[in-house]
Amino acid sequence: MSAPVPDRVDFNFHIRPLLSDRCFACHGPDDKARKGGLSFLSRDAAICGGKSGKPSLVPGKPDDSELFRRLVTTDPDDHMPPAESKLPKLTPSEIETIRRWIAQGGEFKEHWAFLPLQSVTPPATGTTATTTGIPDGNDIDRFVVDRLRPEGLALQPSASRETLIRRLALDLTGLPPSPTEIDAFLADDSPQAYEKLLATLGATDAGEAVLEVPALEKLLHDRPDNRPPEAIPLLVTLLADRLKLRKEALDQFVEWRLVRVPGTINAAGLLGPTEHT
Ligand code: HEC
Repeated sequence: MSAPVPDRVDFNFHIRPLLSDRCFACHGPDDKARKGGLSFLSRDAAICGGKSGKPSLVPGKPDDSELFRRLVTTDPDDHMPPAESKLPKLTPSEIETIRRWIAQGGEFKEHWAFLPLQSVTPPATGTTATTTGIPDGNDIDRFVVDRLRPEGLALQPSASRETLIRRLALDLTGLPPSPTEIDAFLADDSPQAYEKLLATLGATDAGEAVLEVPALEKLLHDRPDNRPPEAIPLLVTLLADRLKLRKEALDQFVEWRLVRVPGTINAAGLLGPTEHT
């Protein structure tokens, strides 16, 4: 299903990605590749148009805008992007988004990275603790829910607390939670229980060690002959150092991470779906 047409079209969010994907190859920043004398780099340039002398953009008037006409024309010679470019045509909802953008004034905006930060009001979705598994939901969930709804999708039901702590511990420390940590989390019925857990697990040395694990696994994967590279003893020592608070767990940790086959070591992919639920 294609994305719904937004009520209020935003240049950076809805239009720039379309122009950039389907038009910039020939009407973008590269002067040498520019076709038809037309650039979509600024509103003035778009209004000015190309060789034909017709304005590509007539603010408020899609039907008079060459930019729009070239998307809906039935003449294959005029259609944009040209068939020989092999670029996908715009979908009906993308075309409607462009039409609406021109009807709403055809504003251009600077690239979002150069715009000052602004506070936004999260959509009112009625998202609560019971639908997100995080007490009171959170603002990011509200944006996600708002986008899922038009697709007829909803968030998964909340995971059990046992699952939540297991996921979080594996993500942040690379290790399953200890029975003591589980008991403490299950017994904590304050609304901030999850945030507290996040802070505690994130602050462990093991939390830092997890950062080393992808590097270790990548090294193992990248070895064509699958032999442990010389760097491995060093990385394991590093892990041992980082894990000093939980040294007793190191042997187990390495065993879970790495499956030992005689003479070789393979990455076990602990973060795969089965271990990560
Ligand atoms: C692979 C290159 C290519 C891509 C991609 C491309 N165009 Fe073009 N465009 C051309 C060429 C070549 C011309 C000149 C020939 C013509 O007018 O058909 C042109 C001309 C135009 C004109 C007329 C300019 C004038 O006034 O003479 C418009 C409007 C236009 N393109 C819009 C678009 C839009 C909108 C997109 C993206 C959806 C797009 N083009 C993507 C190659 C491209």
